[in-house]
Amino acid sequence: MIKLSPSLLSADFSKLGEEAMAVTESGADYLHIDVMDGHFVPNISYGASVMKSLDKLDTAPYDIHLMIENPDFYIDDFLTPKTEYIVIHQEACRHLHRSIWNIKSKGVKAGVALNPATPVETLEYIFEDLDLVLIMSVNPGFGGQSFIASSVDKIKKLDSIREKNHYNFAIEVDGGVSLNNAKILKEAGCDILVAGSAVFKCSDVKKRIKEFRSILE
Ligand code: DX5
Ligand code: ZN
Repeated sequence: MIKLSPSLLSADFSKLGEEAMAVTESGADYLHIDVMDGHFVPNISYGASVMKSLDKLDTAPYDIHLMIENPDFYIDDFLTPKTEYIVIHQEACRHLHRSIWNIKSKGVKAGVALNPATPVETLEYIFEDLDLVLIMSVNPGFGGQSFIASSVDKIKKLDSIREKNHYNFAIEVDGGVSLNNAKILKEAGCDILVAGSAVFKCSDVKKRIKEFRSILE
């Protein structure tokens, strides 16, 4: 079954705990935590302390997307019992293999995100080290942007590389995901869909997650 990871970036921060619990109780598989530093991307979101404020709640596990420079310096801050994936950007890492193994050495799953202009081939020599590849289908930095259509072919290409070589990484897509493109993304080979505004900027979050579920099952 394809998994759904609602992005808290589009939640109402004045009631973050309630929003995190609402999507968890509606069947979200992960909470997607978008961390932005104002350097790697032109926006600042929140950091580990905000994420940790959710630790005392019984939420879905965290799928942490670090859109930051020097991610190696901050990995320890994001380790909690609910951390499932830590995802860093290919474009932010000078020694990507080392950074991946730094994450894995902490006992959590490691992923690499690729910006829209970064080809999948750049991961050729580390595919077997990865637990997840995140295809950005918008330029990172903001919620509510339009899906970049060429991302579908990119996902198909990545899926066929995975199949041909029997790699085990999951494929995640992030940016502009909606009820309109969920089926196409599932068929292209995605395992995890991130959705921010499509989940939180609607009047009935529970109903919306059910709608995603019925497409993804
Ligand atoms: C963008 C973030 C996304 C964002 C997705 O930089 O990485 O996770 O929250 O939001 P939507 O689904 O609204 O494009
Ligand atoms: Zn994200």
